[in-house]
Amino acid sequence: MNQSKQRCIIVAVDGPAGSGKSSVCSKACKRLGWTYVNTGFLYRAVAYICRQRQVALDDEQAIGTVIDEFTKSLVWDPETQAVWFQGENISGHLYTDLAGKDASLIAKNPLVRSKLLPLQRDLALRSPVGAIVDGRDIGTVVFPDADLKVFLTASIDERARRRIHQLKDGEVASSEELETIKASILARDTQDAARGVAPLIQADDAILLDTSHLKIDSTIEKLIELIQEKNLV
Ligand code: DC
Repeated sequence: MNQSKQRCIIVAVDGPAGSGKSSVCSKACKRLGWTYVNTGFLYRAVAYICRQRQVALDDEQAIGTVIDEFTKSLVWDPETQAVWFQGENISGHLYTDLAGKDASLIAKNPLVRSKLLPLQRDLALRSPVGAIVDGRDIGTVVFPDADLKVFLTASIDERARRRIHQLKDGEVASSEELETIKASILARDTQDAARGVAPLIQADDAILLDTSHLKIDSTIEKLIELIQEKNLV
């Protein structure tokens, strides 16, 4: 516990799509015995529920109602990040490219962001010791007073390669497939970085961690080293 601030330790990890945030943060949390909060999953869940209910992704009022219901009925498993909505585990639907694109679309809306803000803080602050929270605006908006801020990134080529590897389960991709994935990642980054509220941006006091040439295990090591250097463990 960070006694001076009367809250658990918070490490904010922001970065563009496909930079490896969720794999790195979840594994680092397992090693530390901390809680991992994947905030992108919450945006994805809301976008998914909207699609299921045929709510237009620019219908602010209807999305607001969905978020109110979601917040009330959400059951969240910090171990697996599983998201249960009205008794159903919807996690399996949230990894798709469509859910990511839809999430980015609704995330432009200031009302959506302000309604999801307390939920993100609440999930992290439930941790008895420490939490790593990943997203786009964690170090700038959700936890501007985080104990450590990291901006995780990688080159667009590397991010596309990793995404393809994940989607095709290790199979080799054609150059067209690679270009399509690159374009989709870049479109999402542009949308996330260009929005008026809480854009994707490196906080002034965040440490840049470029993982273009790092394997996942080395990235986890680096993150844990940064946490140790700050005496947070
Ligand atoms: O991290 P992710 O790729 O699962 O996030 C999906 C989208 O959700 C992302 O493109 C933008 C939005 N998002 C956001 O705006 N703010 C966050 N803190 C997390 C995600």
